[in-house]
Amino acid sequence: METFEMIQSRKSVREYSGQITDKQLNNILLAANAGSVGLAKFDEYRLTVIQKPEVLSQMNGIYDAPTVIVVSGQNNGLMEGNSAGTIVHNMELEAENQGLGANYNMASLGSIPAGVLPDGFKPLFALTLGKTNEAFTPREISLKKIQTNIVK
Ligand SMILES: Cc1cc2nc3c(=O)[nH]c(=O)nc-3n(C[C@H](O)[C@H](O)[C@H](O)COP(=O)(O)O)c2cc1C
Repeated sequence: METFEMIQSRKSVREYSGQITDKQLNNILLAANAGSVGLAKFDEYRLTVIQKPEVLSQMNGIYDAPTVIVVSGQNNGLMEGNSAGTIVHNMELEAENQGLGANYNMASLGSIPAGVLPDGFKPLFALTLGKTNEAFTPREISLKKIQTNIVK
């Protein structure tokens, strides 16, 4: 899909109809790695792909997603949160580019079982993912959705 059309078509999907393929996952992880992080300190972040039903069943607010990707970092400040946002957003757009359903997720962060994330890393942001029956078509977007001041 053309980039701007895709941006207009993006939406949070909370109903999933099956597991994604490893090839789809691979592209989503490539998109994550194409993201930006503050000061280019990529080594201060980790991606954890959770597909194990025993782990997913302990996590809150994931809408029965068959895949959750957690971005974690060594610190938990504004820089880290913003960096995690760019990583997750890249993954979300690539998921939708492949016709998959995805949604940003913070609700699950406090319920990730111990030992799932790498030692010393705190959860920052996550993406829920799965196949979807929903279609992606450009939405009507109003410029008034986010109040804007133009200073010129
Ligand atoms: C920082 C952040 C955290 C979010 N956390 C959650 C969440 O935990 N659960 C959820 O269902 N949606 C979550 N969302 C998705 C928003 O609720 C959603 O993007 C918003 O309602 C707009 O809908 P849209 O994505 O369809 O445009 C989050 C979005 C952002 C940016």
